[in-house]
Amino acid sequence: MKTMKAVCIYSYGGPGVLKYEDAPRPHPREGEVLVRVHAAGINPVDWKIREGHLKEMLHHTLPLILGWDVSGVVETLGPEVKRLKSGDEIFSRPDISRDGAYAEFIVIKESEVALKPTTIDHIHAAALPLASLTAWQTLFDTGNLAAGQRVLIHGGAGGVGHLAVQLAKWKGAQVIATASAHNHDFLRKLGADQIIDYKTVRFEDVVEPVDLVLDTLGGEIQERSWKTLKPGGILISIASPPSAEIAKAKGVRQAFVFTEPNAEHLAEIAKLVDAEKLKVIVETILPLSDATRGQELSEHGHTRGKIVLRVI
Ligand SMILES: NC(=O)c1ccc[n+]([C@@H]2O[C@H](COP(=O)([O-])OP(=O)(O)OC[C@H]3O[C@@H](n4cnc5c(N)ncnc54)[C@H](OP(=O)(O)O)[C@@H]3O)[C@@H](O)[C@H]2O)c1
Repeated sequence: MKTMKAVCIYSYGGPGVLKYEDAPRPHPREGEVLVRVHAAGINPVDWKIREGHLKEMLHHTLPLILGWDVSGVVETLGPEVKRLKSGDEIFSRPDISRDGAYAEFIVIKESEVALKPTTIDHIHAAALPLASLTAWQTLFDTGNLAAGQRVLIHGGAGGVGHLAVQLAKWKGAQVIATASAHNHDFLRKLGADQIIDYKTVRFEDVVEPVDLVLDTLGGEIQERSWKTLKPGGILISIASPPSAEIAKAKGVRQAFVFTEPNAEHLAEIAKLVDAEKLKVIVETILPLSDATRGQELSEHGHTRGKIVLRVI
């Protein structure tokens, strides 16, 4: 049996449950490709799954390889693969119910794979799929964000936030973002029109009414966000489902989005990157064997841009 290095969990728990070890190399079945992973992005969902927060929703079988952001090269094809060929450089946000990309190889459905942007390396391409799909699906698919509208993006400097700021600007929206002071120059360079230091200012006291709020934090931030919406505006959360009753009472709309794999969206995102309209920022690069450190950094909650594991 061929093996590969991988980072697995055998039980839910703290960072200590992550095991860097030899695992069986997977085989592609119908409609799937085997990808040699060059880099794997880290997202908060990785440590949330490790801690068991999503076990009721996702029903994983353990042991499980974590990590659902990948950039790499197609190694072999399963039967009935139509679009991809071996040697293609790809990126993907694969199916989160299956083994992930903290590994030397991953099997992915062809329908979840797009050709990676040609102007960036695998490290940067691996930082993109989950966070950029989240920004795309919240702002455009659910929010129907249009030119001239105003959008408030919480956590503007984070993985999702820094891409959402740029995508909203690309669409022609006016962008207000929250971040602590040390991230303000960073966000200004990405195009944010107004940046609010959430540590010293109550955003709801200074924001003119907006058409859309992207809530990346939930809890108290979500509660205080209702006040910032125009009549008919929409509060979209990726952290926790907003109350339909409150939305109705306030004459606004609400949605919770759980990001889905989407190769067509990724192809659009790759075009924007190659046209220099969208830039992904990678703050920290670690070797695969240091996944524990990467997850600890992510869990701290103050990443600027993204953290990526280098596999090759
Ligand atoms: N539903 C879905 O499908 C989906 C998809 C993607 C992500 N998510 C969730 O969305 C959340 C954000 O994801 P992410 O990848 O962007 O996380 P992330 O990269 O870890 O976000 C870190 C950022 O959050 C900022 N931040 C922390 N506290 C803040 C506050 N009170 N106000 C404003 N900004 C604050 C930090 O900025 P400072 O350093 O300036 O404080 C930092 O830049 C996570 O909970 C993640 O699990 C859900």
